[in-house]
Amino acid sequence: MSLHDDDKKLKIKHSLEKRVVTLPDGTFLPSIGQGTWYMGENPESKNKEIKALQLGIELGMKVIDTAEMYGNGDSERLVGEALKARRDKVFLVSKVYPHHSGLDMIERACENSLKRLGTDHLDLYLLHWRGRVPLAETIEGMERLRKDGKILRWGVSNFDTDDMKELMETDGGKKCMTNQVLYHLGSRGIDYDLLPWHQEHNLPIMAYSPLAQGGSLRRQLLSDPTILEISEKYNVQPLQIVLAWTIRSNNVIAIPKAVQEEHVLANAQAAAIQLTREDLNKLDEVFPKPVRKMPLDII
Ligand SMILES: NC(=O)c1ccc[n+]([C@@H]2O[C@H](COP(=O)([O-])OP(=O)(O)OC[C@H]3O[C@@H](n4cnc5c(N)ncnc54)[C@H](OP(=O)(O)O)[C@@H]3O)[C@@H](O)[C@H]2O)c1
Repeated sequence: MSLHDDDKKLKIKHSLEKRVVTLPDGTFLPSIGQGTWYMGENPESKNKEIKALQLGIELGMKVIDTAEMYGNGDSERLVGEALKARRDKVFLVSKVYPHHSGLDMIERACENSLKRLGTDHLDLYLLHWRGRVPLAETIEGMERLRKDGKILRWGVSNFDTDDMKELMETDGGKKCMTNQVLYHLGSRGIDYDLLPWHQEHNLPIMAYSPLAQGGSLRRQLLSDPTILEISEKYNVQPLQIVLAWTIRSNNVIAIPKAVQEEHVLANAQAAAIQLTREDLNKLDEVFPKPVRKMPLDII
């Protein structure tokens, strides 16, 4: 596909607009966004990374995920450059380190992220993973930032079912908008209880590493005969099937990271793939849903 083919870009954008996920506050988001881990770390790749993010935004992958941790702020700086004159087109997500999530640190950590990102607010601020700071304190910090307009919403990341239950029972915990966890066809642990719990509570999941890091976390995803058969049927690549699988329900937002132009396009195009019940059953046979509780997969 030619990158200059505006009609095709528009078609991709429309298919993304049709695959939306709704946050508890009623905000609609396209179910495929963009990750940025490792971006901004190598000066030689910076221009390419900026262009990749900008192409993704143009195609409608408006959710951009970063974190203060990534490259010690380099990812946020790169995202800031990519967003110049485009801030209003993006739903910007960053994450706070657990050791910065207490009342003594969270405001400064957020200010520093805002500075690196060149913006005055985040659309969503996530606790990167659970640390030693009591949940109640992090919630209070998040709520203060929200009242000051520095963040519009907050959520968590790498929380398992028991953590989510505890969060809901903590004062203010029900204001959480999402939980970002590892989820791909080769790592389905959350299908046992965490994802059903989220569905019951109408709380979307954000799926990180949805391509199993380009297949490197699970090589089988690139060569499995069932995935190949389904990808041939839709005339797409195996990892596009893997991505379409991740967003098969309407409460998962996948955030693949891509620097290669063809990867950005392929990921956006995956929104147009609607897997049938038959496809899903075939995939379940090779990559079965867990039948018992699995520890949350984390990288
Ligand atoms: N909350 C957390 O604890 C946590 C943890 C990990 C990740 N994350 C977030 O989730 C994002 C995504 O996860 P990830 O970066 O770990 O892995 P990923 O998105 O599963 O995979 C990224 C890799 O896949 C390649 N790729 C992208 N699209 C492709 C396609 N269509 N076909 C073939 N290869 C493709 C990329 O190559 P190129 O870049 O060369 O195009 C890159 O090497 C991160 O960037 C980060 O924002 C969050």
